[in-house]
Amino acid sequence: MTKKKHVALVLAAGKGTRMNSETPKQFLELAGRPLICYALQTFQESFVDEIILVTGPEQVSYCRTEIVEKYGFYGVKQIVSGGAERYDSVYRGLCAAQDCDYVYIHDGARPFLDAGMLDRARCCVEECGACAAGMPVKDTMKVTDENNYVRYTPDRSHMWQIQTPQAFSFPVIRQAYERLFEEGDLRGVTDDAMVAERYSSVKVRLFEGSYRNIKVTTPEDLLLAKILLKK
Ligand code: CTP
Ligand code: MG
Repeated sequence: MTKKKHVALVLAAGKGTRMNSETPKQFLELAGRPLICYALQTFQESFVDEIILVTGPEQVSYCRTEIVEKYGFYGVKQIVSGGAERYDSVYRGLCAAQDCDYVYIHDGARPFLDAGMLDRARCCVEECGACAAGMPVKDTMKVTDENNYVRYTPDRSHMWQIQTPQAFSFPVIRQAYERLFEEGDLRGVTDDAMVAERYSSVKVRLFEGSYRNIKVTTPEDLLLAKILLKK
């Protein structure tokens, strides 16, 4: 059996509007290093064969010199420019990821993925072809109408909050994204599992992420990340 090729797409092309800082959040400093370095480090030390970093068109050369070269991320084989929305960035990353078997799509704004999580992603994707990290929700969830009146309270025992990494058989996710752009509805597409759910016949399975695996989104998250890093 030939060895399978595993590629990571690390997304760092967002503007970080909710963080409200001049520097995009993925490049803000966290304990002396730009935040994006943490996810890159974990992928580099893992079984993943190749990393593709997707960043803003104006940040490609910054990423090359100030991230990849400066911190020695030899696992990063390509730096590609992303697009206006997250799904545009993912699609560009997928177009760059030719000839691989599995792809691990990860938000660069989540510094706390770990080796165990990546191993779980690998097991799950090799078995099912499509999977996403998640954790059971802790709060009660409610669905409302447009005036915030509660319509119903879903059973929490089957509800998960979804994280990245999300891992897919490459042809499955590549084709699903092709279909999304050809014939699909782009509204409300916030993760990659949704694209597979809608535009492939493969069932997406969830695997255990971690409650530490936060997405640094608002200024409080940066404080939280600093605390988590000390533990
Ligand atoms: N992302 C991307 N390309 C985009 C939008 C987002 O690569 N056009 C990436 C972000 O850099 C981040 C991840 O997708 O690592 C998750 O997105 P999010 O947390 O929404 O980041 P931003 O879009 O940058 O933040 P905001 O929505 O507050 O503007
Ligand atoms: Mg966003």
